[in-house]
Amino acid sequence: MKKIALLTSGGDCQSLNATMRGVAKTLYQSSKDIEIYGILEGYKGLIYGNYKKMEPSDFSGILTRGGTIIGTSRQPFKYMQIPDDNGLDKVKAMKATYKKIGLDCLVVMGGNGTHKTANLLREEGLNVVTCPKTIDNDIWGTDMTFGFQSAVDVATTAIDCIHTTAASHGRVFIVEIMGHKVGWMALHAGIAGGADIILIPEIPYSIDKVIHAIHNRTEQGKAFSILAVSEGAISKEDAELSKKDYKKKLKASPYPSISYRIGKEIEEKTGQEIRITVPGHTQRGGNPCPYDRVIATRLGAAAANLILKEKYGYMVALKNDDIVPVPLDEVAGKLKMVDPDSSIIYEAKSLGICFGD
Ligand code: F6P
Repeated sequence: MKKIALLTSGGDCQSLNATMRGVAKTLYQSSKDIEIYGILEGYKGLIYGNYKKMEPSDFSGILTRGGTIIGTSRQPFKYMQIPDDNGLDKVKAMKATYKKIGLDCLVVMGGNGTHKTANLLREEGLNVVTCPKTIDNDIWGTDMTFGFQSAVDVATTAIDCIHTTAASHGRVFIVEIMGHKVGWMALHAGIAGGADIILIPEIPYSIDKVIHAIHNRTEQGKAFSILAVSEGAISKEDAELSKKDYKKKLKASPYPSISYRIGKEIEEKTGQEIRITVPGHTQRGGNPCPYDRVIATRLGAAAANLILKEKYGYMVALKNDDIVPVPLDEVAGKLKMVDPDSSIIYEAKSLGICFGD
């Protein structure tokens, strides 16, 4: 008998259920006697012992469903080692739940923080296999995370819709795109949606360069401009500040997010009418796109195959269209950022897209 638990952690995304279905179908397909458990609401469930036994029928009809059928929560890595209000040692508590169920392996689906905790559990002697989940596409060691393409679809649709209204009114529109500290989503949705200016954290912008690009368009007779701005975009001056000072500055800022600050500056310097659109969590919602369903299913199947071979301590990753195991300790704590000198940036610039640098 093999006992496996599934755990989804951090912000949800569109193909978590497809991944769990991939794991479960592959395990049930094997000749082994399998029991699958669902840890409820991410690491919280593992800490406080909230889990349920899953049945094969739980995995039917979920390939196309967004969100996660076992719930999720945010438990950042740094809080894992801090006892809770009742003095409970969370790491000990997680190990106790694992032992109580009698698990052979925990399959964790999550982003960067989730991977740090998964690696911590591995160091503590638990058998762990992980799958790279996040709309941000910022997990080191994989070419692509599941959830990314579906979120890019939503963000692109938002830019597509803005195009017609921006053109009709001759306005400057800013579409603020999720992505946390990296610009993958803004870069891909910006190119797919035909944005004129793309601002990402990896390429600090000068507001004068942005305004110059808008002026250029006006001179060419184009009354509207569309900016795809990553929520983590940063100006050249701010990029010079220490992390601490920048955090302080953000806290004191009167603007709800970077897009509003950029919008105000453009308005003041150009006199043009500005509108800001924030698709926000719609980018993480809805059903997974076919590409995500495929990689999520493959990653899930690959995770299950590792378990069947009793190969633990790995993240399954997409590399050159193959799914390969990457040691968890190589992944944990690293961020995959957009390389400002990469070919995609070069091509985007050669089209005339302004990055504000
Ligand atoms: O990591 C995924 C993500 O959607 C980021 O792009 C975004 O910054 C963050 O999560 C939002 O988090 P929350 O759902 O906690 O508001």
